[in-house]
Amino acid sequence: MFYKLSPSVLAADFSRLGEEIETVERAGAPYIHLDVMDGHFVPSLSIGLPMIESLRKRSDMIFDVHLMIENPDYYLEPFAVAGADIITVHAEASTHLDRTLRAIHALGKKTGVALNPATPLTALDWILPQADMVLLMTVNPGFGGQEFIPYLIDKIYGLREIADKYKLDTDIEVDGGVTLKNADAIMAAGANVLVAGSAVFRGNPAENTKKFMELMRAREEIRAKQLSGGEGNQ
Ligand code: DX5
Ligand code: ZN
Repeated sequence: MFYKLSPSVLAADFSRLGEEIETVERAGAPYIHLDVMDGHFVPSLSIGLPMIESLRKRSDMIFDVHLMIENPDYYLEPFAVAGADIITVHAEASTHLDRTLRAIHALGKKTGVALNPATPLTALDWILPQADMVLLMTVNPGFGGQEFIPYLIDKIYGLREIADKYKLDTDIEVDGGVTLKNADAIMAAGANVLVAGSAVFRGNPAENTKKFMELMRAREEIRAKQLSGGEGNQ
């Protein structure tokens, strides 16, 4: 499936994290989003290596690890060993992004490059072909439960246009303030991986996941029609 849901555990009940992850996996989510914060790049602290290592023993989901940390190069191998499948670093935190992405690939993992809301898409010039995924932050990183910043919808359209122009199959992930209300507009703008923390784990995580999956299946059909040259209402 082209569209993928990546529930962010930041909004989950940490006292029973294993169960929370199993619930969203059973409800159809293929990815799990793990936010690592260092108290420097972002003001908060969150989970780290031991937590990911423990969860890895319990889950076969794709571990989508979002490093909101300074000097990510020091931690690439430990996160790969702990069980990350995709390792996303922030362009703003990486001085030698080309080297960093090569190092992630050398560890046999997928690369992600994250951009803060204020960072222009031109930060991806030259590096985009090396990124398996680009993560567009649609809130200022550091906290769950914030509102999607509306003008960033144009940034998603902009990145999709660039990826299509150069025929790149880069995944476009959107992180921050994604809800069941705005998810369809975000996918219509060109994103195909949606992170959702509060919108999945607040309330009934299984039901919420299933609702996201329904929206994604509907989008998948529209896309299939568009690709086959049929109608499709965007
Ligand atoms: C924020 C994190 C997000 C966060 C999203 O800095 O990167 O992944 O968990 O949470 P919601 O979906 O609640 O905005
Ligand atoms: Zn995140």
